[in-house]
Amino acid sequence: MFKLVALTVLLAIAGTDAFWNCCANQPNAVCPRSVVSPACSGDICTVTRGEQLTANAFFTPVRAHSELRVTVTTTIAGITVTLPTDLDDACTSMFRGGVSVGCPTVPNTEHEWRIIDNISESTPALTSAVIRCE
Ligand SMILES: *[C@@H]1O[C@H](CO)[C@@H](O)[C@H](O)[C@H]1NC(C)=O
Repeated sequence: MFKLVALTVLLAIAGTDAFWNCCANQPNAVCPRSVVSPACSGDICTVTRGEQLTANAFFTPVRAHSELRVTVTTTIAGITVTLPTDLDDACTSMFRGGVSVGCPTVPNTEHEWRIIDNISESTPALTSAVIRCE
């Protein structure tokens, strides 16, 4: 759900006006209600390697999760590639009602995942790529 361009990371979704979308092929996915980021406008986000990406994702889990491991991937020439990220454990940046609460998540209650990711210098530079964050 994100895009990479030479020296930058762009978040985008083909065919929609939004820069993010649900992982439609993941049956247990909890889709965010919204994702906002100062790095994003319209259907694209621009993040430079060595700089910080901030974003806020609002979602309502259906279960109590005691652990939320994060992986960020893209597809290069048909091959799934894991991208470097600081976002190892989303529990450390989980908020409810503006208050840092960690895990477990509370079912059927909206949570905010405050994403702060230093974009690694080792992130591959791509002309354009959809990024998947799960
Ligand atoms: C991200 O970068 C900031 C500013 O350089 C630094 O303070 C912070 O520790 C970094 N976070 C991680 C997880 O490396």
